[in-house]
Amino acid sequence: MTQDTKTRKADARAGAAAALQYQPGFGNHFVSEAVAGALPVGRNSPQRPPHGLYAELISGTSFTTGRAENRRTWTYRIQPSVVHRPYARIDNGLIRSAPFNDVEATPTQLRWSPPPIPKQPTDFIEGIVTFGGNGDVATQVGMCVHIYAANRSMTDRCFYNADGEMLIVPQQGRARFVTELGIIEATAGEIVVMPRGLRFRVELPDGPSRGYICENYGVALRLPELGPLGSNGLANPRDFLSPVAAYEDTRAPCTMVAKFQGNLWAAAMDHSPLNVVAWHGNFAPYKYDLARFMVIGSVSFDHPDPSIYSVLTAPSDVPGTANIDFVIFPPRWLVGEDTFRPPWYHRNVMTEFMGLLHGVYDAKAEGFLPGGASLHNCMTAHGPDAETWDRASRAELKPHKIEDTMAFMFESRYAMRLTRYAIESSELQHDYFEGWQGLDRHFRDA
Ligand SMILES: [Fe+2]
Repeated sequence: MTQDTKTRKADARAGAAAALQYQPGFGNHFVSEAVAGALPVGRNSPQRPPHGLYAELISGTSFTTGRAENRRTWTYRIQPSVVHRPYARIDNGLIRSAPFNDVEATPTQLRWSPPPIPKQPTDFIEGIVTFGGNGDVATQVGMCVHIYAANRSMTDRCFYNADGEMLIVPQQGRARFVTELGIIEATAGEIVVMPRGLRFRVELPDGPSRGYICENYGVALRLPELGPLGSNGLANPRDFLSPVAAYEDTRAPCTMVAKFQGNLWAAAMDHSPLNVVAWHGNFAPYKYDLARFMVIGSVSFDHPDPSIYSVLTAPSDVPGTANIDFVIFPPRWLVGEDTFRPPWYHRNVMTEFMGLLHGVYDAKAEGFLPGGASLHNCMTAHGPDAETWDRASRAELKPHKIEDTMAFMFESRYAMRLTRYAIESSELQHDYFEGWQGLDRHFRDA
């Protein structure tokens, strides 16, 4: 082990301890310095920043984006990000990007079993498999869904995604995101949002790990409006946590991997790009514990629409019609009187991609497994399977708590087109339709 490697690992461990510290608040204008006095006071770009650092601005939105939407962060770093060798193409593995034209889009209901954790050494980037998406990375419209299944930490390489913001939903194993703005650790039940373009590597302290990724090509995720709910409820802003500054001062070789216009590129560096000693701004990664979601539901009869379970939303150019809604189905009480309590039968102009973190989803008696996924595309019929319908139609309607469950949905205004991998995967459940075939006729005309 070289001295630089030792130093980097020691720095990483020191950083990990510091990672237990977070700054609360959704989209706050954060201030953080890992070395006292490293953050300039009263100006952003002094002639000579403190401690011999370079000032560098990361613009997550255009300069002239309105104040409420504007996201940018000033970093003070050991060397600026521009210090690297030229980029060269590397293999994309199973990562794909929109537009998806590999296979024809299908209106069939689809469901997949969990992808296996690879046996060969596989890091987070190598372990990403794209299922499908919509829009176009070139026009920054639409979204994409991946599942990662990996077993080793990224060590001598970092990653950034110029194509989109990444909403990461671990399902198995901790994921530690060592970013240029500090360290975030998340486990199953927590989500992490990595802004477009931010540099990071992913360490997997538990080894075998799996999770879902929603790549957002469009404008950034934000909290949904609360409307008549008032000023509290759903995901509360103070429960979103961003990291504190933690830097690496190394001269060890590092490969910077970029996802740019649908392809992976790599550039050699002779130091860690995670070298930010101080920063301030509101363009930052964050995490959120889904257990903190305040669930709203009916206390009389019927269901409200599942939009009441929206954690985050990324709007499109049509008001009220999201590019992405991130919706969860958490533990909650069901008390509706004279109500069919599972989700209703449904056809939806929005497209619904679902995953399950643990437990059982209340519309499916079996077959929808933790780590698996389902897709009900634009206007594709879906709803409870026959076994669930039968049970729910006869159930005594006393108050009932759904416990030990966490399903979620990436919902999009655009239909999802799949990758060849998703269509030809051995995890695709070709018998998914069977679950509805037992929904017999009960009609009586008198
Ligand atoms: Fe639905």
